[in-house]
Amino acid sequence: MIMIGSDHGGYALRKELVEHLREQGYEVSETGSVNGESVDYPDVAKEVCAKVLSGEAEKALLICGTGIGISMAANKIRGIRAALCTDCYMAEFTRRHNNANVLCMGGRVTGPGTACKIADTFLTTEFEGGRHQRRIDKLE
Ligand code: RB5
Repeated sequence: MIMIGSDHGGYALRKELVEHLREQGYEVSETGSVNGESVDYPDVAKEVCAKVLSGEAEKALLICGTGIGISMAANKIRGIRAALCTDCYMAEFTRRHNNANVLCMGGRVTGPGTACKIADTFLTTEFEGGRHQRRIDKLE
C-alpha cells in the first residue's frame, strides 16, 4: 500500500497523484486536507510516516505547497528518509543511494505531469545497498 498525504497547499496535486497511481494498479490510501481545507503539514507528516514505520504502507508521498515544510517534518522522525524531489533524476537517485522511503513534492512548484513521472520513478527504483547502506547507517 502507498500512503499519500497533503495539506491544503498540496491538495490538488495529491488528488492527481491518487488517480494516477490507482490507474497504475497501486493500492493507495490518502489522508490530510479534506476538500482543500487548511490543515497543518506536521500533523499530516506524522500520521503518514507512522504508517510507513509500522509497515502498513510500503512507501509514502507527502505534498505541501513547496514540499519543504512537510519534508522537514518527516525527516524529524527516526527511520524516515524523506526526499524532496523536483525531477526524475532526484527521484531515481534518492531511491538508489538514500533508500528514501518518503517522497515529498510541492503542489505549488511541480506540475501534475512531472509529479506523476517523479512518483513512478520513485516507486519503481530499487535501493543499491553496498556502500550506500553504510552511509545510511551513519544517518540513523
Ligand atoms: C501552506 O500555506 C504552506 O505553508 C505549506 O503548504 C508548505 O508550503 C510549507 O512548507
